[in-house]
Amino acid sequence: MDNLCVLIMAAGKGTRMKSAIPKVLQPVLDSPIIDYVIRNAKSAGVSPENMAVLVGSGGEEVESYITTKFPDVKILWQHEQLGTGHAVKSAREWWRNYDSLVVLNGDVPLMRPESLRELISSSGKNDCTVITFEAENPGAYGRIIRGENSVSIIEYKDASQEQRKIREVNAGCYAFRVKSLLSIIDSITNNNAQKEYYITDALGLMNDAGMSTGAFIMPEEEMQGVNTQAELAHVSKVMRHEILADWLSEGVRILDPETVYIGADVVLMPDVTIMPNVQIWGKSKIGSGSVIGSGSILTNAVIGENVHVIAYAVIENSTLRDHSKAGPFCYIRDNTVLEAGAFAGKFVELKNSTIGEGSKVPHLSYMGDATLGHDVNIGAGSITCNYDGEKKHKTVIGNNCFIGSNTMFVAPAEVEDGAATAAGSVITQKVPENSLGVGRARQKNIADWSLRNHHHQATTEGEK
Ligand code: UD1
Ligand code: CA
Repeated sequence: MDNLCVLIMAAGKGTRMKSAIPKVLQPVLDSPIIDYVIRNAKSAGVSPENMAVLVGSGGEEVESYITTKFPDVKILWQHEQLGTGHAVKSAREWWRNYDSLVVLNGDVPLMRPESLRELISSSGKNDCTVITFEAENPGAYGRIIRGENSVSIIEYKDASQEQRKIREVNAGCYAFRVKSLLSIIDSITNNNAQKEYYITDALGLMNDAGMSTGAFIMPEEEMQGVNTQAELAHVSKVMRHEILADWLSEGVRILDPETVYIGADVVLMPDVTIMPNVQIWGKSKIGSGSVIGSGSILTNAVIGENVHVIAYAVIENSTLRDHSKAGPFCYIRDNTVLEAGAFAGKFVELKNSTIGEGSKVPHLSYMGDATLGHDVNIGAGSITCNYDGEKKHKTVIGNNCFIGSNTMFVAPAEVEDGAATAAGSVITQKVPENSLGVGRARQKNIADWSLRNHHHQATTEGEK
């Protein structure tokens, strides 16, 4: 397969999406359409060095996305969008160095690697092979005209009433013998209803030149393109069910697949349990035996084994190690780590903090830019005052510390191993090893307060 390349066409405007976002960057679940196309080509065995994405309309955005996420994939430009035939021609200097060229519409995210592999393996047989499907509603798709030993395509707008009745349509995925394509590509004209250069005309030209063309049919569900928001929503739904079905078959328990969303980059281990109404996105990973409770939303969360995310936890870009626990109702974000056996409980926010092994932040706390050692207990209502209006400062708490309820750590703050703080303390100085930090006003009792208070009220009323 070394001498094969894949050109993904993504220069079109996608006018029918009625969106400022380029079509191939429109999201299916949490990834752009183009991700699925590239991933599919990779799974079919094509290395990214032999892939190019043709950009044009909204091309800067597509280019910056691709170069960040897939740096080995080449970006080629089609500055004016004069049709798919013109698109393939614009990339000629790149693909002419290969023996075979596979052209994929950039808007076919549901295609499976097996289907692409079949197209690739047919690339040696014909001068051009095209993938088709039997459309329930063939709409504006190009119609497949099958000859005795050949195939050609007529675009909907150019088709006769009779031809429009054909339900076998062009999916927009082609395999070409490069030498053959080179010999006819300059003969493609824009002599048609849309005044566009059609790549689909290549087949007719090849037939006329005595070359071989062929087609194979794939399931419609897999080959449908995305041209409208309604099609995007439909494709997202199909993708969601495929991903869930894959994980169920790998031994993941999903109580109610109707309410669960899992992104395509997520990795789950067998014996993970996912409760209803859960969303898992990005590059999240979940280890075996872990349970993700209802209402939780995980994005780029790395969850170890036997972790219990109790319910309604939002976890972003953070790590929960084995046997840790979180929730209900917590927000864990920005590179926070719950070490093994740690716990973040009710109404707790953790930001860029490490909670050491076996340490607990059970209720109503905010720990930001904090490092806690092992076996620390944070009393309810404790907060790191990590932001002075200009800069963020760190709070460091050692091992085996006992933090009294409602302690305020005015960062930078430090509590050494084995130390404690008194409830309600405002900590502005280091608390040394094994000491108790008390940072609050002493209680003073004012005698006969209620009597005086009554007397005062009586006087003021009398003055009215
Ligand atoms: C195309 C096919 C049609 C097929 C359908 C399948 C042609 C002439 N028609 O029609 O037979 O049934 O796909 O979805 O090819 N693009 C460019 N540059 C351009 C024009 C388009 O890069 O100048 C890209 C688009 O970004 C898109 C793809 O080519 O990814 C297809 O373009 P689109 O306009 O969607 O073609 P269709 O009219 O749907
Ligand atoms: Ca299309």
